Amino acid sequence: MSEKTSVAVNAGDSARITREYFDSLLVELRTIDAVKASTEMELFGETFSTPVMVAALSGLDRTRPGGMVDTAKGAAAAGAVMWTGIGGEAELEALIATGAQTVKIIKPYADLDLVFKKLEHAEKSGAIAVGMDTDYVFGGKNNKGFAMEHPVAPKTLNDIKSFVEATKLPFILKGILSERDAGKAMEAGAGGIVVSHHGGGVMDYAVPPLKVLPRIAKIVGKKIPIFVDCGVTRGMDAFKALALGATAVSVGRAVMAGLSKDGADGVRRVLEDITEELRWAMNLTGSSELARIDPEVIWS
Ligand SMILES: Cc1cc2nc3c(=O)[nH]c(=O)nc-3n(C[C@H](O)[C@H](O)[C@H](O)COP(=O)(O)O)c2cc1C
Repeated sequence: MSEKTSVAVNAGDSARITREYFDSLLVELRTIDAVKASTEMELFGETFSTPVMVAALSGLDRTRPGGMVDTAKGAAAAGAVMWTGIGGEAELEALIATGAQTVKIIKPYADLDLVFKKLEHAEKSGAIAVGMDTDYVFGGKNNKGFAMEHPVAPKTLNDIKSFVEATKLPFILKGILSERDAGKAMEAGAGGIVVSHHGGGVMDYAVPPLKVLPRIAKIVGKKIPIFVDCGVTRGMDAFKALALGATAVSVGRAVMAGLSKDGADGVRRVLEDITEELRWAMNLTGSSELARIDPEVIWS
């Protein structure tokens, strides 16, 4: 491939643009009167050791045999929240059986009965929250109209309200990337949002989540948790997201690298390493706890 062609192929890659945006954000030091920081997080009535979570991943048995369950074991060992995406009922039950506090994200299936069935199953199985990746209503860039073999379809605000009402669990909207959709999520009664562009899987030139996050945080206030994913690979990334308004962050592909190498232990280590660097950044910026990270420490 010529250099010109390879640049053209890479143009618009949302994951690359997001990485560049992370790297453009710098952090000031505040070390006088500094204290050792706590990364403890309260979420949905549970206490976690870290705001660094496993992203809504799926199909990890292809990364490593038993990969889904090993990922949940790694999350539980790190005291982190486990999220999962598309997958069957037996799989969700096996993830929860590891002891991992698990959030289930359901695809925006065209068949609404299937959505309601999955909501009911997740609640019965002991998930701590449920949700839907509404950025996937037209499918992926490379799988238009489908989530695996199931057709997907756009959802109205009323559809979303009916999902919120169908479950006692917090209902999270994943793939919010505008002030407009954040406002609609609030109107629907969402129990949380994930500011995300699905790792670039749905559209090129997507706004980096951290670029739109401060505006979304203004709309949401502290009313519901704001999660962020896409490109979080180290503690400094997590710190920047938290400083700009995130309650917690999710890590997808970096966790998969740990899984691939060392199974559950590799997952635990990735989550702990990211948390350790986050704590270090908190120590050095006068942020004694998660709620005390001052957005003013970020220079853009
Ligand atoms: C193998 C794989 C499977 C995924 N499956 C789902 C899914 O079923 N549902 C979903 O909402 N997101 C899914 N995602 C997207 C992730 O939740 C996340 O938004 C994305 O990977 C960006 O985070 P990252 O840059 O840390 O990987 C998947 C991502 C990967 C890599």
